Amino acid sequence: MCGIVGYNGALDAKEILLKGLEKLEYRGYDSAGIAVRNEEGVTVFKEKGRIADLRTAVDDDVTATIGIGHTRWATHGVPNKLNAHPHQSASGRFTLVHNGVIENYHLLQKAYLKGIQMQSDTDTEVIVQLVELFANEGLTTVEAFRKTLSLVHGSYALALLDKEDEDTIFVAKNKSPLLVGVGDGFNVVASDAMAMLQVTDQYIELRDKEVVLVHRDRVEITTLDGREIDRKPFKAELDASDIEKGTYPHYMLKEMDEQPGVVRKIIQEYSDVNGELAIDENILTALKEADRLYIIAAGTSYHAGLIGKQFFEKIAGIPVEVHISSEFGYNVPLLSEKPLFIFITQSGETADSRQVLVKIKEMGYPALTITNVPGSTLSREADYTLLLHAGPEIAVASTKAYVAQVAVLALAAYVTAQSTGKDIDFDLKQELAIAANGIQTMVDSKDELEQIAEDYLKIARNAFFIGRNLDYYVSLEGALKLKEISYIQAEGFAGGELKHGTIALIEEGTPVFALVSQEQVALNIRGNVKEVVARGANACIISMEGLEEEGDRLVIPKVHSLLTPLVTVVPLQLISYYAALHRRCDVDKPRNLAKSVTVE
Ligand code: G6P
Repeated sequence: MCGIVGYNGALDAKEILLKGLEKLEYRGYDSAGIAVRNEEGVTVFKEKGRIADLRTAVDDDVTATIGIGHTRWATHGVPNKLNAHPHQSASGRFTLVHNGVIENYHLLQKAYLKGIQMQSDTDTEVIVQLVELFANEGLTTVEAFRKTLSLVHGSYALALLDKEDEDTIFVAKNKSPLLVGVGDGFNVVASDAMAMLQVTDQYIELRDKEVVLVHRDRVEITTLDGREIDRKPFKAELDASDIEKGTYPHYMLKEMDEQPGVVRKIIQEYSDVNGELAIDENILTALKEADRLYIIAAGTSYHAGLIGKQFFEKIAGIPVEVHISSEFGYNVPLLSEKPLFIFITQSGETADSRQVLVKIKEMGYPALTITNVPGSTLSREADYTLLLHAGPEIAVASTKAYVAQVAVLALAAYVTAQSTGKDIDFDLKQELAIAANGIQTMVDSKDELEQIAEDYLKIARNAFFIGRNLDYYVSLEGALKLKEISYIQAEGFAGGELKHGTIALIEEGTPVFALVSQEQVALNIRGNVKEVVARGANACIISMEGLEEEGDRLVIPKVHSLLTPLVTVVPLQLISYYAALHRRCDVDKPRNLAKSVTVE
């Protein structure tokens, strides 16, 4: 969480920093700030709220060619102007932005900073005060920075300005993402290449615990103990138009519309020269050699993992466990003899998942990351990566990345099954293409889905999503989408489970969305719908062609029974979207959330 930018060049830094922060708002948006340095010193502008609020607080008359900026997702200290970054040292000499969590900040404060009056409630301020303390003791800035870093425990991406140094941004990272971008006569710092694509597509990857000095015309990378490192930049393969909304009112709507294309792209990316579905040979070997797969994920990715389990067990005959990453670290199950860990993460940065990856690598187990972001932390640190090829997803609520995760999991299971000689009675390539058409039909049904949102959710305080088998997992995802963006209390349930307690919550008018796409349980779930309707529920049945009955509110096109999650999720996403719009919620940036959750 939190996004960082920095600019050191010849142009006015303010606008570049603000534009960069706008692109990083997905990482947090409860407050923001920039600091710029010129001959008169360092000026800090910060504001509670969005970058748009910060813009109005920035004084146009202050011009400077070096500066840093930050957009925050609060961890320590409430989201207000005081706790917004940048933070400054007692004398104002040093100014810092930070993404991450300093675990021992309290101990450091007690041990070193007793006499200093802290200005904020953040863990970050301890770092900037320590740098000043050590500088006051006679160390150079880079020495003081290094000494501070050697004392802090936790995760950080940092950019520091020194009032007395007109040409350096001091940068370091540990566990939190940070890149340095290089240009002609300028250099930049960014949590994500997207932020600075406006000025450069050349980036240098930074490793944990490196100390980097970003000057206007050169970048010096060193290890924490001062050894110099030479690293060449890479080209960020991002198309600036991919990260623009275009004519769409929201990124989420654009990204939902892109879903049919994403599935088609996946088919293309994972087809070999003969047109057969294929994945990297090493990954295939790892999958075949494993006696059990352990899927680790959070949020929406966890829901995709539950579906992935069905694919690997039903198509490839490999047993699978699915775990929530934040729980796994403390609650490691008894592992099989030859496990393969699969991390599913759209961002590739989720700290909860990363701590599991670090742990299982220490234990010597192999890991495969399925992610949308090439070069992300979980991709770099795993043995293998399967990319989602969904294109940048900006809206906080994940839609196309989820669909891509489900498609890639199906594909990996299918290719594994094929290569182990399993009896498979369908052609996945063809079925995925049919599913892509099914998704298209759903995204083309916006008027109807908007009407459903209006009819069922306009005044609802809560809602239920029910389904059986694969429909159950999609129900979980449907409920999460609705909660995330419309703030309506929602629960996803296995159809048969509702009567064991939760049915007590059903009252006159309670909306219940029921999915009916699984033939073998279609009658059972319809029975569950009758149970809730008998207690007053306002039921909305979404069924699949061939299983529909009179009175069903929406019928999705027929797709292969294992691939229904690719299609059934789409109406639920769109219903959530319209429910959120009706409530005037900020669809792309729901309250309290962030897209990339880099704290545990
Ligand atoms: C955050 C996002 C969710 C996402 C989850 C896991 O909570 O708001 O949309 O599902 O993180 O993220 P990942 O990047 O690991 O898939």
